[in-house]
Amino acid sequence: MSLTKISINNFRCFKNVDLQLSPGINFFFGKNGSGKTSILESVFIFSSGKSFKSSNLASLVNYENDKFTLKAFDNLKGYIVEIEKNKNKPISVLLNNKKITTSKLIKEFPCTPIHNNTFSFADASPDFRRKLLDRSIFISEKSFSECWFSYYRSLKQRNSILKNNRISDIYIWNSKLSDEGIKLNNMRNNFFTKTKNEFYYLIDLIQPSLVFNFFNLIEINFFQGWDENKNLNDLLQENQDIDLKRKSTTQGPHKSDIKFLINDIDARQILSRGEQKFFSILWSLAQHEVLKKQYKINATLIVDDIKSELDDRVFNLFVETLKHIKTQAIFSCIDDCFSSKITASLNEFKKFHVEQLG
Ligand SMILES: Nc1ncnc2c1ncn2[C@@H]1O[C@H](COP(=O)(O)OP(=O)(O)O)[C@@H](O)[C@H]1O
Ligand SMILES: [Mg+2]
Repeated sequence: MSLTKISINNFRCFKNVDLQLSPGINFFFGKNGSGKTSILESVFIFSSGKSFKSSNLASLVNYENDKFTLKAFDNLKGYIVEIEKNKNKPISVLLNNKKITTSKLIKEFPCTPIHNNTFSFADASPDFRRKLLDRSIFISEKSFSECWFSYYRSLKQRNSILKNNRISDIYIWNSKLSDEGIKLNNMRNNFFTKTKNEFYYLIDLIQPSLVFNFFNLIEINFFQGWDENKNLNDLLQENQDIDLKRKSTTQGPHKSDIKFLINDIDARQILSRGEQKFFSILWSLAQHEVLKKQYKINATLIVDDIKSELDDRVFNLFVETLKHIKTQAIFSCIDDCFSSKITASLNEFKKFHVEQLG
């Protein structure tokens, strides 16, 4: 997507703001509480109907009002999207004046959000890394959503059989779960491999090993959630007694993960916060570039608080990567960290001082 006009009404601290965005790089700076995250949040809502900060959309309605409305124009597609959230009603979405469900938004207005939670990607739970990977596959592969839902529905059935001790039915579900699990796993593994290749390509371009020595030592592996040498159906049968005791399916694609090792040690035990942040940004950028290069999907890149925890050398590395990212991008920072010398080398750069918007 490339959102060139946005109207924000009664959304968090903003009463009424109209923004003309650049199809290239947009940079928002301003003091704590000035509304930087709120602006990035509104862009994320166009892409998902969800908040990246709070699970409660009603909390985003300005304190003095009953509803917020957001409107955007995508100049690549010529689409208009209008979103309204009343405190007491479900969110409503109009795409070119027609009502659509929020689940359709992600494909129409894809974005890659990088925010405080994503910064600790290596430190997060396996579930978090799985979700980020799945999100990109959901955007890019048509059959993924059906495959994902079938697998997790069957998993729920098998777990319910285990809980209720109804073993006689379990063979049917073992075989169903294994068929669907293998499809799901192939799609994940495929996207992971593409991301890993893109990650090393980015590393070659910007040479982060000149700043961080860990980049030469890092090993990134996809763990599929069960022993690679075993057939999933056989394994589900083998594990039946353990699964019955635990009342849930202990192995399978629902346990898959991406593992980062440095000298064979889990990276989270080694990396400092700043190192981990830069590494996490690079991994998300790699996923973003796979969407662009292999699927021709132009997602908008959103990075909140870009400079926090990064020193000037690392920030410069990030700026180097930006020279290669050709999609729309939206960043925020407390300080104006993009000097005119830096912006001269960047694609269609536009700067906003958030205090002066309202
Ligand atoms: N529902 C709301 N109504 C009014 N103000 C809000 C609401 N939710 C958050 N705020 C306020 O909006 C301001 C901007 O928040 P935020 O966008 O997170 O700032 P920044 O990222 O620039 O530090 C904060 O002062 C916050 O308290
Ligand atoms: Mg913020």
